[in-house]
Amino acid sequence: MVKKAQLIYDDKSMDLPLINGTENEQAVDIAKLRAQSGLVTMDHGYANTGACTSAITFLDGEQGILRYRGYNIQDLCENSNFMEVSYLLIYGELPSPSQVEEFRNNITRHTMLHESLRSLYDAYPRDAHPMALLSSVVCSLSTFYQDAIDPLNPEHVKISIFRLLAKIPTIAAYSYKKSIGQPFIYPINALSYCANFLNMMFSVPAEHYEVDPDIEKALDLLFILHADHEQNCSTSTVRMVGSSHANMFAAISAGICALWGPLHGGANQEVLEMLQLIYEDGNNVKKYVEKAKDKNSNFRLMGFGHRVYKNFDPRAQIIKKTCDKVLSKMGINDPLLDIAHQLEEVALKDPYFVEKKLYPNVDFYSGIIYKAMGFPVEMFTVLFAIGRMPGWIAQWKEMMESKDTRIGRPRQIYTGQNQRKYVPIHKRS
Ligand code: ACO
Repeated sequence: MVKKAQLIYDDKSMDLPLINGTENEQAVDIAKLRAQSGLVTMDHGYANTGACTSAITFLDGEQGILRYRGYNIQDLCENSNFMEVSYLLIYGELPSPSQVEEFRNNITRHTMLHESLRSLYDAYPRDAHPMALLSSVVCSLSTFYQDAIDPLNPEHVKISIFRLLAKIPTIAAYSYKKSIGQPFIYPINALSYCANFLNMMFSVPAEHYEVDPDIEKALDLLFILHADHEQNCSTSTVRMVGSSHANMFAAISAGICALWGPLHGGANQEVLEMLQLIYEDGNNVKKYVEKAKDKNSNFRLMGFGHRVYKNFDPRAQIIKKTCDKVLSKMGINDPLLDIAHQLEEVALKDPYFVEKKLYPNVDFYSGIIYKAMGFPVEMFTVLFAIGRMPGWIAQWKEMMESKDTRIGRPRQIYTGQNQRKYVPIHKRS
């Protein structure tokens, strides 16, 4: 293994220390580079920049590996559940039976929202995007728990973790109910995490609603798959905002906004809208593949490509299997799924996609399952956010507890005007 890196610039050189990870990854430590040489590094989109060390999630984009705290995602999907995975991510180890029971009880006890929070929903237009509501209500939690938001107080952190995990399904379900004008359904703590969420989403006071155990299980699996993905855009946002010692609700609310973007979590909504578009345009898959390849068009095949995975996205493979199972169990013959299969087939053989290593990502199939489960398209990214909550919390907690954490503050290279004199308005042409 290399011991140090040497930088040669002009007629000077300097040694830069290397940092080694447990999976043999190496980083050049440039923390003292500017102080010693006047140079900063430039890396648009931080594509090759490590902003922290982390012991939570390992992923190898070339080999398609994803592990939470050392456990393969396939192993967790087969044997674990979302509550246990949340505990694992946040506290570092799989829980004992009593630990998971206590964790579950603590989360269960905080599922209700303060009644005054309900009126916040009335302030928004009926067609407000649920991601806007989610972010805003999560941030508003900091106003309801002002006596417990100190990010440096372990007791405050402990209870905020329970509150966030417990309340996010309730906040999400209320956003949906608001959009369709139905009464909000209170949480039922006797139900599992996912069954409770499904009940709050789809039951109405006038009728009995039975949660389908297969849907409950599939949703639990989808949440596990989304639970963490190391330093992606929303997680980096959570760390960045948290590094200023803003409270956890504020930091995670910012992460929700980052997730909303169509290039990130918002892609699952965009995938379905794209499939619908192709369907309405006479199933012309080839036309859209060609459009995605056209340099003069802004169109991209949504659900394809990933910043890190350049071989395959292991989450997409697991989802694909679940998707087939859920759809056949429910007897759903969705023409959009056929289009998705065709797109996948064409794109995986097309030299453009092969050369650029553009494979279906996690969002490609998740939207189709969510649709089959009865979720409206606007809720897809919200579902991603519910799944990602333990990851954001774990990353925030690790950042706060690390002695290496400093406020996030990148450098820049200024490319604007040099100094010039102010021109009064009457002298400007
Ligand atoms: N369709 C067509 N071409 C694509 C696509 C796509 N989906 N994705 C990338 N490309 C092309 C780009 O045009 C670029 O071509 P060029 O080198 O000729 O200029 C090349 O592939 C590299 O693309 P970048 O945008 O530079 O790659 P980057 O790593 O910055 O972006 C991203 C990754 C944002 C995921 C991108 O692949 C994309 O926009 N995909 C569609 C949106 C999507 O599915 N997002 C979800 C990501 S997964 C998640 O967040 C959970």
